[in-house]
Amino acid sequence: MLGKDLVPILTTENQLLERDLDDFDIGDQKRVQKEVETLHPEVVVNAAAYTDVDGCESRRELAFSVNAEGARNVALACAETRARMIHLSTDYVFNGHSQSPYREEDLPNPLSVYGASKLQGERYIQEILRNYLIIRTEWLYGRHGKNFVDTILSKAGQQKELRVVDDQRGAPTFTKDLGLAISRLIRIQARGILNVTNSGSCTWFEFAREILKEKGLNHVQIVPISSAELARPARRPAYSALDCRKFEKLTGSKMRPWKEALKEYLS
Ligand SMILES: NC(=O)c1ccc[n+]([C@@H]2O[C@H](COP(=O)([O-])OP(=O)(O)OC[C@H]3O[C@@H](n4cnc5c(N)ncnc54)[C@H](OP(=O)(O)O)[C@@H]3O)[C@@H](O)[C@H]2O)c1
Repeated sequence: MLGKDLVPILTTENQLLERDLDDFDIGDQKRVQKEVETLHPEVVVNAAAYTDVDGCESRRELAFSVNAEGARNVALACAETRARMIHLSTDYVFNGHSQSPYREEDLPNPLSVYGASKLQGERYIQEILRNYLIIRTEWLYGRHGKNFVDTILSKAGQQKELRVVDDQRGAPTFTKDLGLAISRLIRIQARGILNVTNSGSCTWFEFAREILKEKGLNHVQIVPISSAELARPARRPAYSALDCRKFEKLTGSKMRPWKEALKEYLS
């Protein structure tokens, strides 16, 4: 989802070579090494991951092989060729007990296998490289992937009533906005860990309500429920808004509010 939106954005200022799972598996160290050595890129953006959060619970090995070992393989190849690595990580590295947006230096403590595998990926990169940028983001939606916005719209076409979780709070983020932010961060050679999301926050229920309102689907009833009622395999943080002030200071710009980005996506 993010990768496909990144391609046209990064192509405007860079010579871009895109690779997908069909080309090679980032869990295959030799293949990653060979590919990076052959292409000899200045920057490698790793948007690949095993992102099925519930699936990760039953496929722990796969989750770690892609999200942790895969990230390690890319980092090792970048170290070998002196390439800069840009890597995507997640709010799910936190346990969600905070009452205020998480800062980059807050202590991670993931609740799920997905979060733990992504955190291990971050740690490998930090051990191996100095020239890296880890971008933590959350609640992505975009034109090229299965996402919450499309799911709500599709369900609204089939059901009169939607039940949506109201005890998890985060920041919905449009992949196009994130892609533009990544492009800017590459240009200014940002390093370290950085939070990047659209601004503001909401619960999934509030997000769904805004989607329906924006589409004029006022006849669809929406009912707030608890995470316990939904009973999904992976535990998710109750609160995981990310503090983006470091990004704002570095770039001199603020990501637009999530409602504004959603409006554009829906139009
Ligand atoms: N989606 C979110 O809400 C969210 C939130 C926070 C952070 N992130 C992070 O942001 C990044 C992009 O997420 P996204 O939503 O764009 O994910 P996505 O749509 O699931 O895209 C991930 C891509 O990685 C590919 N892939 C999976 N295993 C691979 C492997 N072993 N080798 C090479 N490619 C592999 C997938 O291929 P297949 O589709 O063929 O499996 C897919 O094309 C990820 O690092 C994710 O952890 C996402």
